[in-house]
Amino acid sequence: MKDLTPRKEDLDPIEIASRDEIAALQLTRLKWSLKHAYENVPHYRKSFDAAGVHPDDLKQLSDLSKFPFTVKSDLRENYPFGMFAVPREKVARIHASSGTTGKPTVVGYTHNDISIWAEVMARSIRASGTRPGDVVHVAYGYGLFTGGLGAHYGAERLGATVVPASGGMTARQVTLIEDFGAHTIMVTPSYMLSILDEYRAQGLDPRKSPLQVGIFGAEPWTNAMRAEIEDAFDMHAVDIYGLSEVMGPGVANECVETKDGLHIWEDHFYPEIIDPETGAVLPDGEKGELVFTSLSKEAFPIVRYRTRDLTRLLPGTARSMRRMEKITGRSDDMMILRGVNVFPTQIEEQILAVEGLAPHFQIELTQEGRMDAMTIHVEMLSADLGDDLRTNASRQLCDRIKDVVGVTVRVNATAPGGVARSQGKAVRIVDHRQKG
Ligand code: DLL
Repeated sequence: MKDLTPRKEDLDPIEIASRDEIAALQLTRLKWSLKHAYENVPHYRKSFDAAGVHPDDLKQLSDLSKFPFTVKSDLRENYPFGMFAVPREKVARIHASSGTTGKPTVVGYTHNDISIWAEVMARSIRASGTRPGDVVHVAYGYGLFTGGLGAHYGAERLGATVVPASGGMTARQVTLIEDFGAHTIMVTPSYMLSILDEYRAQGLDPRKSPLQVGIFGAEPWTNAMRAEIEDAFDMHAVDIYGLSEVMGPGVANECVETKDGLHIWEDHFYPEIIDPETGAVLPDGEKGELVFTSLSKEAFPIVRYRTRDLTRLLPGTARSMRRMEKITGRSDDMMILRGVNVFPTQIEEQILAVEGLAPHFQIELTQEGRMDAMTIHVEMLSADLGDDLRTNASRQLCDRIKDVVGVTVRVNATAPGGVARSQGKAVRIVDHRQKG
């Protein structure tokens, strides 16, 4: 893999500013953002008043902990445009994320918001090792999902040649990557695995592909998966994080030279980590739920939004801005099996450690009497591995999960193609348990 570290003079000065400079900018912007939300969004006026706080009470950054949280149901209750802080005519674009139930969450952007989004996305893409003039293949879905258009505007802003492939038609993805000489691909890690399968199905050597950089996000993925993809394609695999409620992709991104967690673009998004049970703010370094407050958004300011994503804050390395550790899971993705907390990423890590197993998997939850049971459906790498190898791989996976994660599971090792493929975010958990 080539050294793709960006030149210092190409970075935004704030990326490597002193912590004091960053904090001063955050305080000015945070005061503006709280006032903007309070004065223009009835929901915030009501919730601040009910908590007995006023934007003027924020004298220092830590005073933010006095303000109330915002949760997904607040957005649903204000469907569709009730959380907007500008008249609808000033909203230049709408995105929405479809939850598993009910109405989607709607977010809006002014022209200025879209411009800042493009700027932080360009920063993310540059941090990943992409330069102006490189060909960037965007295989995140275009549409209401923020992935496609977010990546697109950022890559254009950086000065790349953008290929708006969107998701799906996997054979064509490979043709476009090869024929247009894609240097960078932006796609969910699970769909990258489908593209990898397609390379092999077409008899092409993925290590000979033009790809140098993959910018993967929108779902949790492990360092074991990073190693798998980097090795298969001989490319850098970096992590990008974001969520529609806070903006979309580009809230945080890894640096290609360190790959040690994601630098949060703290000049626009203020992070906190809280104890998910008590709501208390935890010090940097401690693991908990990530909470964000927007510092510059006009159309859709968001105050202390509870992401449900679990991580911890770490000091800056390649940039002055703080890092968040790779996300291990969401609080609502956490399965509790006979009292043990289990995340799909823990299962992924163990699958990747067993020889003969492919990284395609799905977790099925069933109920047997009063007990919950977990079956891991996972593919074998090759169809001709024989029953012995299959039994052996299944047993190894069971043992590893028992030893490392602490739960007993069943493993169903299928032939290649036995697990449903994703063209966007993977569906990792299928829950057949009776609710309630
Ligand atoms: O997934 C935005 C995005 C698009 C991010 C493309 C990165 C790349 P939503 O659909 O609103 O937005 O889903 C947000 O996805 O709260 C996390 O649970 C999860 N997520 C996003 N990025 C990562 C990541 C987009 N790098 C939700 N690692 C978030 C783990 C991620 N989880």
